[in-house]
Amino acid sequence: MITLGIESTAHTLGLGVMDGKKPLANIIRTYIPPEGEGIHPRKAADHHASEFVPALSSALKAANISMNDVELISFAQGPGIGATLRLGVVMAKYLSASTGIPIIGVNHGYAHAKISEMFSGLERPLYLYVSGGNTQIMQEHEWRMEVLGETLDIGMGNLFDTFARGIGIKRAHGAELSRLAIGGNYVKLPYTVKGLNLAFSGLLTSAQSLAKTHPHKDVAYSMMETAFSMACEACERALFLSGKKSLVVCGGGAQNRRLQGMLASMCAEDGVRFGAAPDEFNRDNGAMIAYAGEILYEKFGTIPIEKWGAIQDFRTDMVQEVVKKRQGR
Ligand SMILES: [Fe+2]
Repeated sequence: MITLGIESTAHTLGLGVMDGKKPLANIIRTYIPPEGEGIHPRKAADHHASEFVPALSSALKAANISMNDVELISFAQGPGIGATLRLGVVMAKYLSASTGIPIIGVNHGYAHAKISEMFSGLERPLYLYVSGGNTQIMQEHEWRMEVLGETLDIGMGNLFDTFARGIGIKRAHGAELSRLAIGGNYVKLPYTVKGLNLAFSGLLTSAQSLAKTHPHKDVAYSMMETAFSMACEACERALFLSGKKSLVVCGGGAQNRRLQGMLASMCAEDGVRFGAAPDEFNRDNGAMIAYAGEILYEKFGTIPIEKWGAIQDFRTDMVQEVVKKRQGR
């Protein structure tokens, strides 16, 4: 099945095309806010609106297909920023209405997990989902996700971005912070794991105050090491409790090589297989939305266009609830 996937939950507009498990195109257009600013919802939505048609043309061209070849249109239903999310939903609905191609909405976190599972080749793994707003440890049952543990306050990505912005890094995100952290020395910071859950706000506050007196390099290094160690501990516990024999890390934060390395060595010690997708598919992207759409469409079919809408606070473990509701069960 050839599926067009539309991602627009935050700063990235993604138009991807999948043919079953084969990616045919993955066009990514990211809104970059002015230096030192966070994402402005309307400006990000304006960016996605003006980039949509060129990105769609590029995706169809890269996949060497036309709209006539598309058999399913899949869009990110949530969670996300209202303005950008709605833009994607409207575009998906318009395309579906004007072509008659069926449409399906998918959960963004579910899509991250499923595309990473596909690339890792590991079946039914434990998932660690790490992004700006999310840090969740999940397992999938027959057709729903269960969140075993998660951050009790901010996502790991937000921890890094907020700290980076506070110390004046211009393009404030995890990758820049990782560059700064190279060669840093460890200083002690709060470490908060509660069972399978994590908390990062105490770590952020302490790191911010330590940065006033200590070299930023050392604080950045220590904060990242602490956050990654916390994630490893919670995952290791979840692996033992769930009896899972494989772990897949997914989401934007999964691109971090230090996090990947720490998880891989923890897994190797425990005799657990470890996997991650290529970076392009861990970033927010349309191919993952297309892939997850195919899975859900094959399992549950779909509903008429007018019944679809955005769900801004769409939790990963609400997938079951949403499917049931739309089937009128
Ligand atoms: Fe994401």
